[in-house]
Amino acid sequence: MKGGLFGSLPIAGTDVATHWDALYYFLFYLSLFLFVLVIGAMLIFAIKYRARPGHVSTPSPRDHHLLEFVWTAIPTVLVMVIFVWGWIVYKDMVSVPKDAYEVRVIGQRWSWIFQYEDGRTTNNQLFVPANRPIKLTMTAKTDDVLHSFFVPDFRIKQDVVPGMYTYVWFTAKTPAQHQIFCTEYCGTGHSAMLAKVVVLAEDQWKLWWSGKEIDLPESIGIGSYSSAALSIPAVAEVTGDQSADLVNQGKALSQSKGCVACHSDDGSKRIGPTWKGIWGRKEELTDGSWAVVDENYVKESTEKPQAKIVKGYENVVMPPYNGQLSSAEFNALIAYMKSLK
Ligand code: CUA
Repeated sequence: MKGGLFGSLPIAGTDVATHWDALYYFLFYLSLFLFVLVIGAMLIFAIKYRARPGHVSTPSPRDHHLLEFVWTAIPTVLVMVIFVWGWIVYKDMVSVPKDAYEVRVIGQRWSWIFQYEDGRTTNNQLFVPANRPIKLTMTAKTDDVLHSFFVPDFRIKQDVVPGMYTYVWFTAKTPAQHQIFCTEYCGTGHSAMLAKVVVLAEDQWKLWWSGKEIDLPESIGIGSYSSAALSIPAVAEVTGDQSADLVNQGKALSQSKGCVACHSDDGSKRIGPTWKGIWGRKEELTDGSWAVVDENYVKESTEKPQAKIVKGYENVVMPPYNGQLSSAEFNALIAYMKSLK
């Protein structure tokens, strides 16, 4: 699966990675070609037309319109090709398929926590099925620092920020383990902030999902040939509240934290907007602007209820819920909101 003349890029574990590589090699070889062309011509001319006794210099051409047209048109076409190609690959990288399976990622000094919809969490091992689009909704623990989630074999990299949600997605092609790095310097343990994506065949995924033992696939790509420093425990430590799935955890939180006093789940109007159908809803705000309800909107509204007020709910009495919910609990609350269609 290694590509290119020098095999310099890691394994392409997704189709997006393959498309990304093709564009990369196009840029690389185009640059190489232009470098040889320009530097080569420069050297030849420097030798051939050098000043020497008895050599009469050739007059420079003036107003050569054909020449000017050619040196404008060819680079313009090349740059447009790079732009359009880059746009297509970029769109692929950022457009999450609608049917993507969602896993929540929480970064902290210095490990990764993965939270699944059934309430389980795993540390430093992200279990996913092969050949299915996976969406990672990522944040860092409150009061933590900035991290960055990087899977070189998938060519995905995205900042993971406290108090904010970011996304990446991928469809892994074959069962294997791939290295995850933190790629934003986050303190003394930064280089040890390692994890693996464990891509499972459909039958193994079903076993894992039902809590059974599985055979771990082999490590490939970046990290598979390095020292034991990149290795992690063979069996994932499964933790988290397993008594209830994420949606029910969120529902319980909405009651224990008092959200339900002002936000109904059935569309009825209380002091605050109802949560029924809230996800992705476009809300008109008191200042006439519009906001789409997503993770970042909800996060802001719980911490700074006055920041964006939905029209018709001017008398905000909601207290700020700063730091009252852990990142994992907040993810559960969001899962509950999403379920209220
Ligand atoms: Cu987390 Cu570097």
